[in-house]
Amino acid sequence: MERLQKVIAHAGIASRRKAEELILEGKVSVNGSVVKELGVKVGASDKISVNGVPLEREQPVYFLLYKPRGVISSVSDDKGRKVVTDYFTHIEQRIYPVGRLDYDTSGALLLTNDGEFANLLMHPSSEIEKVYVAKIKGIPSKEKLKSLERGIRLEDGKTAPAKVKLMSFDKKAETAIVELIIHEGRNRQVRRMFEAIGHPVLKLKRERYGTLTLHGLNAGEAKELTPHEVKQLRVLAMKKKNK
Ligand code: URA
Repeated sequence: MERLQKVIAHAGIASRRKAEELILEGKVSVNGSVVKELGVKVGASDKISVNGVPLEREQPVYFLLYKPRGVISSVSDDKGRKVVTDYFTHIEQRIYPVGRLDYDTSGALLLTNDGEFANLLMHPSSEIEKVYVAKIKGIPSKEKLKSLERGIRLEDGKTAPAKVKLMSFDKKAETAIVELIIHEGRNRQVRRMFEAIGHPVLKLKRERYGTLTLHGLNAGEAKELTPHEVKQLRVLAMKKKNK
């Protein structure tokens, strides 16, 4: 469900502020009834009219971007830095990222204009699995990797159990490559987890988001998801949610 003024703004007929005014003026109806207050939320099947004209909802679209490092997971940046939506200037729909990857993190990032879908995936109970591959400083002991696996205390609480695999290490350079699979999505979580065991992250990439892998994509490339891929993700998120 999304706020009515947001849905009107997304349809491209008014700014969010103007949409709020239209609602307060009694010019907006949902399923035939005039709505005059601002808290109302609507779903994809609700019929909205503005000034008696049915709202054309944007077609929902879904993209997987292989986000390069050095790009912000946002739709705009006041410092003029590159943002993820710069890769979609040919798309007329107003899409935005589902969650975020740090500026220096590369990898799988989903973008859509479907707010309900985004909320479903980002909800903590959806438990979409995310696979990260980190190059870290030093070579971690088995015990340290076990502690990541069991869950580690961070300043915002203990992390949920994770899957951890030491992929390789370089004794000379004193670095290691570790795969970490988590379903939480706290801010800078992977970097903070490795920092907590004394092995800071040097490089980080998200290899998989739920069922979506980077297979066939180079950094900076995107692909539109098929209806089947969208459905798979939805099923995955719902399954965990109902557990
Ligand atoms: N964890 C991080 O630390 N950074 C990311 O970009 C994603 C997960």
